[in-house]
Amino acid sequence: MKVSIYGAGRVGVSVAFSLLHYSIVDKIVMVDIDKNRSIGEAMDLLHASGVFKYCNIYAGDPSDIIDSDFVVITAGRAQRPGETRLDLLIDNVKIIKSISEDIKKYAKDSIVINITNPVDVLTYLIWEFTEFDPRKIIGTGTTLDTLRLRTLLAQQCGVSSASIHAYIIGEHGDSEFMPLSSATIGGVLLRDYCADCDMKAEGSSTCLDFEKIVEEVRTAAYKIIEKKGATNLAIGAITAKLIDSIWKNEKRVWTPSVLIDDVYIGFPAVLGRNGVEKIVKLKLADEEQELLEHSKSVIRKAIEEIKK
Ligand code: 2OP
Repeated sequence: MKVSIYGAGRVGVSVAFSLLHYSIVDKIVMVDIDKNRSIGEAMDLLHASGVFKYCNIYAGDPSDIIDSDFVVITAGRAQRPGETRLDLLIDNVKIIKSISEDIKKYAKDSIVINITNPVDVLTYLIWEFTEFDPRKIIGTGTTLDTLRLRTLLAQQCGVSSASIHAYIIGEHGDSEFMPLSSATIGGVLLRDYCADCDMKAEGSSTCLDFEKIVEEVRTAAYKIIEKKGATNLAIGAITAKLIDSIWKNEKRVWTPSVLIDDVYIGFPAVLGRNGVEKIVKLKLADEEQELLEHSKSVIRKAIEEIKK
């Protein structure tokens, strides 16, 4: 299996390094405008691969992405402290257009996974620029936010995140939200789970402040960027997991950025070897449907702006 990664920065390298842990990849091509950086990172990754599985890892040019099974896009300007992801749109659209042209030319059978922010808007533009089947163009969407949510709930509730089926959906940004009406732990609705949970303080009905936890997820990136300059490890880990899950045709439900109506947006979808296999018909409460429509309008407005 061959994976080409645009961007040999912290995110691209985290994707590649996380991917090595699955021992499924035979070739990784790192593509970056800073050739020296891509050569150095490829050498370092190649040495690391010796711990996992034989894998050919090298720095390449766009033409080297030929016949990739996956093309992962991480290239572009990263968020600075105080910026929103949407603030990156103008700077990153040019890079995305160029990469889309490469993919169309050299890797037309690949599955494209876009990470570059604003991920929903740029994934939509990749779909438009490449004219690929939308099922083979996905963004990481709110898969990272859902991972953050489940990890925080796991810590709070003392239950493995694997048994927590709660999503963050919508824009990978400030308008994302958790549809509480479908969130469960071990099959019990989150709002009912607290009733007989012994983790809560004596006499209180719950120790979970759902909005506080969702706000912690919504602001996580801002806080991490403030402290260490960027986020890279969790997005690298979840992207590698998505590739592993797709490659193994697990048909698991994730919340990637997928084409729904006229936008790409984070929503539960079944991912298999051919990409998006099915978008889950998640039942939303009225107020949740309104939040989703608002999130769609945020993304739609940004798409309309950039297409002017
Ligand atoms: C994140 O949420 C910055 O979108 C990136 O970590």
